[in-house]
Amino acid sequence: MNFPDAHSTSNTPMPTRFASQRAQVTLLIVLLIGFTLWNMPQPVSLSEQEKRQLLTLGPLPAPPLDPTNRWSGNPQAADFGRDLFFATSLSANNSVSCATCHKPDLYFTDGRAIAMGLDLGDRHTQGVLNAAYHKWFHWDGSEDSLWSQALHPFQSPSEMGLTRAQVIEKIADNPLLQTKYQDIFGPLPQANASEPQEIDAIDKAFSNVGKAIAAFERTLITEPSPFDEWLEALRMGNALPTPSFSSGAIRGAKLFVGRANCIECHNGPLLSDDQFHMIGVPLADNALPTDRGRIDGVVALHDDPFNTAGKYSDNPNGERAKITLATQSEPDQWGQFRTPSLRNVANTAPYMHQGQLSTLEQVINFYSTLEGAVSLDHHSESVLKRLDLSPLERQDLLLFLQSLSGKIANSDAIVPPQNLAP
Ligand code: HEC
Ligand code: HEC
Repeated sequence: MNFPDAHSTSNTPMPTRFASQRAQVTLLIVLLIGFTLWNMPQPVSLSEQEKRQLLTLGPLPAPPLDPTNRWSGNPQAADFGRDLFFATSLSANNSVSCATCHKPDLYFTDGRAIAMGLDLGDRHTQGVLNAAYHKWFHWDGSEDSLWSQALHPFQSPSEMGLTRAQVIEKIADNPLLQTKYQDIFGPLPQANASEPQEIDAIDKAFSNVGKAIAAFERTLITEPSPFDEWLEALRMGNALPTPSFSSGAIRGAKLFVGRANCIECHNGPLLSDDQFHMIGVPLADNALPTDRGRIDGVVALHDDPFNTAGKYSDNPNGERAKITLATQSEPDQWGQFRTPSLRNVANTAPYMHQGQLSTLEQVINFYSTLEGAVSLDHHSESVLKRLDLSPLERQDLLLFLQSLSGKIANSDAIVPPQNLAP
């Protein structure tokens, strides 16, 4: 038999089997290099202005203390507030608590389009994580503090359905809640009140309940997201993508502060300006809007005896109270809703004040096409411009929005307290 001799110096051509092996190896190396290069972080160029704008979006500072709530930041009040948050006994049918709609395992939302407590509500449930950073609460800003917000669901017929006196009575009936209340705030008032000063004592105790819940909610914050971690690197001068913040996400961030101009309303570390806008997201089945939003929110705010300028506020003459007192109704407020924070947005579907959009893809499609957008006659200008995003731009924006989630910092909060019965 004749074996090919690789070392032969004769003129015979190189054996074809050997040559094809070499070609295969070369091809493999080329492919490997190609793959490595393709997989290597692709730098995305960012202008100085884009960098400056991006750096305003994170990280979140420590949650601020609320001067209108002297128990804000008090650990004992926060511990009591956690019990109150999970206590189903504080509802008309003994089965609804704050956590019914703000479920820890759903990032403190309920996954529903419209909230369901004792009955079907009329808006989509907002999240509670990082709520302590907001200045206005509810979609219409009808509440101006976290503690006054907490008093609303107890009294709402579709949520927990109690009177203020009933809340105090139910706390008095529960040995654990009663002891914890009295350790912090002193004796509970009589729940069967008729004299003005007795009613005032109940309202005062009721406001304490809200203040304890708010102290707990101030601990419900999220840890830095992949976007925050990338921002830290950017602050150090390194804008390269990371495994959790890809080139696509960077291009999405660039769009967010650039051409798409989402930053006009979703700004600051909360990615919300805490202001009210009418962006005209169509309702389910293209129904006509009936929720008047901010215009009614302002009236409710002034009527609320528990607002930050009222007698139960711990700082009724402070800056916060002045903002509330100066707020006025204006026709343009019809249909305006507070810009939601975009932190953890990938974990809190569905979206918008009616939960009418189920996915972030649908949200991006709305901003891209403004399909079905509702415009009201008395709004002199439409706020949004159609963005006509390309498929790649939509994907980039999605990657960016998906990188805004962080872990829940206070993991104790995820587990309801064990000893709450009855
Ligand atoms: C039946 C469901 C339901 C229950 C029960 C409920 N909530 Fe809510 N929560 C909602 C809905 C719906 C909204 C938005 C309300 C609106 O805009 O009118 C909301 C809004 C909030 C907000 C405002 C967040 C923001 O960004 O402005 C906070 C905070 C909150 N709830 C805390 C609580 C607390 C504390 C309790 C218990 C005392 C509670 N919720 C009980 C459904 C519920
Ligand atoms: C003019 C102000 C404004 C601009 C610009 C804007 N938004 Fe919004 N955004 C809002 C308001 C207000 C809402 C709530 C509207 C509602 O509930 O009807 C909202 C809702 C959202 C939601 C739903 C969040 C939730 O929890 O329900 C997402 C996601 C979102 N916007 C992303 C974006 C992106 C991405 C851009 C840029 C393409 C953008 N927004 C531009 C004001 C704005």
